[in-house]
Amino acid sequence: MNAPSCAELLAQRQVVIVCGTGGVGKTTTSAAIALAAAEAGRRAVVVTIDPAKRLADALGVSRLDNTPTVIDGPWPGLLGALMLDTKSTFDEVVRRNATDDDQAERILSSRFYRNVSGTLSGTQDYMAVEKLAELHADGDWDLVVVDTPPTRDALAFLEAPQMLSRLLDNPIYKLITAGNRGVLGVANRAAQTVVRQLARVVGAHVVDEAVAFFQSFDGMERGFKERAEATLALMGDERTAFVLVASPRRDTLDEARYFLDRIRRADLDAAAVIVNRMLPRTGLSVTQAQTLHTSLADSGGGGAAQALLDLTTAGEADDDRVADLSRAAPNAVLATVPMLADDIHDIDGLRVIAELLTR
Ligand SMILES: Nc1ncnc2c1ncn2[C@@H]1O[C@H](COP(=O)(O)OP(=O)(O)OP(=O)(O)O)[C@@H](O)[C@H]1O
Ligand SMILES: [Mg+2]
Repeated sequence: MNAPSCAELLAQRQVVIVCGTGGVGKTTTSAAIALAAAEAGRRAVVVTIDPAKRLADALGVSRLDNTPTVIDGPWPGLLGALMLDTKSTFDEVVRRNATDDDQAERILSSRFYRNVSGTLSGTQDYMAVEKLAELHADGDWDLVVVDTPPTRDALAFLEAPQMLSRLLDNPIYKLITAGNRGVLGVANRAAQTVVRQLARVVGAHVVDEAVAFFQSFDGMERGFKERAEATLALMGDERTAFVLVASPRRDTLDEARYFLDRIRRADLDAAAVIVNRMLPRTGLSVTQAQTLHTSLADSGGGGAAQALLDLTTAGEADDDRVADLSRAAPNAVLATVPMLADDIHDIDGLRVIAELLTR
């Protein structure tokens, strides 16, 4: 069976996760994918984790926040965009999972929470996944496109859904809370030892705050776990497509292979590979360009012929490398996007890319 086209993917999937190394065009591609879906009549929202306002720039809007901004345009579907705010998302997650308002307030007002919610490693990935799950679940959108941040570990959020439930499963957390509930004498003593040791390192007040914080989660563990499992299932099955963006340059292709590997190690498959910023075609083969170059070498056109030969040769090398990458992802749709004359900073620019992706 042939791999479905990009257009088919965008018509069927409910979640598209766009990944790739820094600067290859992930944000631009994510916005173009959402636009293409909106033009095909779907309600598509694109979520960026990149704080650098690049998504707003690409869409030609002045700002985005943590709830979808609907972008008006002549498409039959709906185009929305939001920029993830980790802190507000974490607050929403706490409110949604708390057993009652008091519990939510206790957690949100705890100093420990205020200190860790923005800085705990992995929080950003985790909140991105929570936002994805929320947008997917609330029924307003047919497609959620996630633009991942420019880090080598962008797929860390494959593990992110379990972050909090893993934390709450953590033996230290269990010891501390069990100890403080006075359930087990042994656990109690062990917990006290742990707490005393921790207190020596980070200070007693920090430990008190941490204990109070973890205790305040009492009763929420199940909710977190179920949510994590549902989200993992969503990201792991046919509803979700991982799309890898790469450029044809050698160094970024090595990175792209790394991402493919990472996706595969998570037992997933990239649904599409988009090679962005391909060199423009000259319409000649290298042999033809060489012949032209030889015949024009001593004429006034020698410089132009040399440039044409260089571009043709570089373009062919791009093609070879792209073919190589494509062999490394045999089940993925391959799409190429040329280097355009200008940066993409409005819907018209995005539409050029959207059309190239779906033709
Ligand atoms: N095909 C293209 N032709 C011309 N310019 C492009 C093309 N694709 C992307 N760009 C431009 O390249 C720049 C980087 O693109 P973009 O921000 O989408 O990359 P990114 O992968 O999201 O980067 P980061 O890793 O920093 O988040 C932008 O200015 C964008 O307009
Ligand atoms: Mg980006």
